[in-house]
Amino acid sequence: MQGVLDIGILASGEGTNAENIILFAAKNPDSFRVPVVITNRPGAPVLGKVQALGVAAHVVEGGDEKKITTILNDHGVKVVCLAGYMKLLSGTVLKKFETILNIHPSWLPEFPGLRAYERAFASGLEYSGITVHFVDEGIDTGPILVQEKFPRCPEDTLESFRQRGQALERILYPRALNLLRKKVCED
Ligand code: GAR
Repeated sequence: MQGVLDIGILASGEGTNAENIILFAAKNPDSFRVPVVITNRPGAPVLGKVQALGVAAHVVEGGDEKKITTILNDHGVKVVCLAGYMKLLSGTVLKKFETILNIHPSWLPEFPGLRAYERAFASGLEYSGITVHFVDEGIDTGPILVQEKFPRCPEDTLESFRQRGQALERILYPRALNLLRKKVCED
């Protein structure tokens, strides 16, 4: 996997991480390329964001993994990035792609699963974190690639807390991809 790393993104929601990865790749064209984004949710805001950036966007309703795998292969994808993909991968994609990353908005293994910002905020802990990890069959359980904490300030609302976390998400996914590429090229 020397040269340019072709990244396929799976996303279900707003698409801020998908957009961020695409912009990061566009700034580093000798290292990364994002040929395709797939969503399992028709009408998800991620579609408009991705199309505005000139990247192919596909809807695979229900997240049929055979269809997803075919689309990723058709676009020459080598690394899959989950970016707010709210469906557990069940087999085909995991078997076909050696490297799949996910970003999760907590200091894993704390608060895996849905509504992580809400649960971390409600817990009253003084910090939370963002984690980018390799994906396995579990829910937010694979080996961690990059992880960083951010504070929960006393005056925070859920929204200010979430915004602080999302700003860190935008830093950590690119950092994880740089690390991954370094690892891959050293092998
Ligand atoms: C992000 O906060 C991401 O960390 C989270 O979903 C959001 C997607 O936002 N992912 C998970 O909770 C995965 N378990 P986006 O669509 O704007 O990138």
